[in-house]
Amino acid sequence: MSLLQWEDRFSVGMDRFDRQHHVLVDLINELHESMREGKGQQELGSILEKLIQYTRVHFASEEEWMVQYQYPGYARHQASHESLTRQVLEFQRQYQDGTIGLSVQMIHFLKEWLVNHILGEDKAYAGFFQAGRSK
Ligand SMILES: [Fe+2]
Repeated sequence: MSLLQWEDRFSVGMDRFDRQHHVLVDLINELHESMREGKGQQELGSILEKLIQYTRVHFASEEEWMVQYQYPGYARHQASHESLTRQVLEFQRQYQDGTIGLSVQMIHFLKEWLVNHILGEDKAYAGFFQAGRSK
């Protein structure tokens, strides 16, 4: 079974962002699977890199939408994106240094990192989007 199953409660009600969140869930599961299969550092590192690159694309895409629709929580959301990016880059740096290994604990950190992002701040913009659509 995958580490992280998509749940309806993750939906932000916008296809584009739900699809992107799905990709992030898939990448975390892929990382977890590869770790369990005992894949080497190079392979794990490249999945982690993919996860980080896609996170950047996703955050940029959300921010672009927020600017376009003058989302009032934009500044806060952007600051949160920056802090999430910093956390994951720090994690990657330590992994590349060999300071830390990819462990179940680390995968759980990434899982929480993603779920908190979707269920926390992203849900707030979902409400804003729904309110705008029902006007
Ligand atoms: Fe998001």
